[in-house]
Amino acid sequence: MGDALFPTFTVFAHRGASGHEPENTLRSFRRALELGAEWIELDVRVVEGVPLVFHDRTLNRCAGKSGVFERQRLDFLRSLDVGQGEKIPTLAEVVELARDRARLQVELKGPNCAPAAAQLLGRAISAGASPDSFLVSSFDSEQTALFRRLLPQVPVGCLAYGYPRRPVELASSLGAVSFHLNLDAVTPARVAELQAVGLKVFSYTVNTESDLKFATEAGVDGVFTDFPDRMAPFQGRSTRPAPTLSATGSRRQ
Ligand code: G3P
Ligand code: MG
Repeated sequence: MGDALFPTFTVFAHRGASGHEPENTLRSFRRALELGAEWIELDVRVVEGVPLVFHDRTLNRCAGKSGVFERQRLDFLRSLDVGQGEKIPTLAEVVELARDRARLQVELKGPNCAPAAAQLLGRAISAGASPDSFLVSSFDSEQTALFRRLLPQVPVGCLAYGYPRRPVELASSLGAVSFHLNLDAVTPARVAELQAVGLKVFSYTVNTESDLKFATEAGVDGVFTDFPDRMAPFQGRSTRPAPTLSATGSRRQ
């Protein structure tokens, strides 16, 4: 199922190179590209019909303002500084930036994102992008299912926090190629259960050597990381990495 799309160990730059730059900004995505990321993960919320790239429900943490993201005007959101003078990017800007350079793991974060995201990615595909250059997920399975109905050629992943009661049935109902588990939910038995039906298992968020060791010993097929440079030595390996990561990203012998 996921083998053709993810033949080797996969590293997703989580919110870009967000360990180095303000998360979910063009600066963070450019840095991820410079660091050789093959996949970039980002979070999408829709305001006035425009898919924007932003993680939180509220503005406090990233923009230093109060208020719920989706209750703001688009022009106000686009005027905000989300770190080092960076603006909140549109999904269209990130698609353009990453075109022919990296693939995008688009997480539908806000309510009712699926139609606008499907329309935008559908346009990118009509303009020549490969459907496989995107992987869409959401904690809200209904959004994933709706997205899949609207744009079935784009692969979807099943995103969970904790381990759902019927994970294989859930993934199957979504037509998912992958299952994305928070690190605390990862166990060897769960990874094996999902891989047995052809799913790839990716874990978030893996930033340290000990967490990489834990995840790879459990058998995961890839990780989301805020530090793609640290994981770069393992990206694209045909087998799962031996977890010998140093704090600076160089490998120990
Ligand atoms: O998609 C993986 C990961 O990004 C999910 O959690 O909260 O970092 O968006 P979060
Ligand atoms: Mg995310």
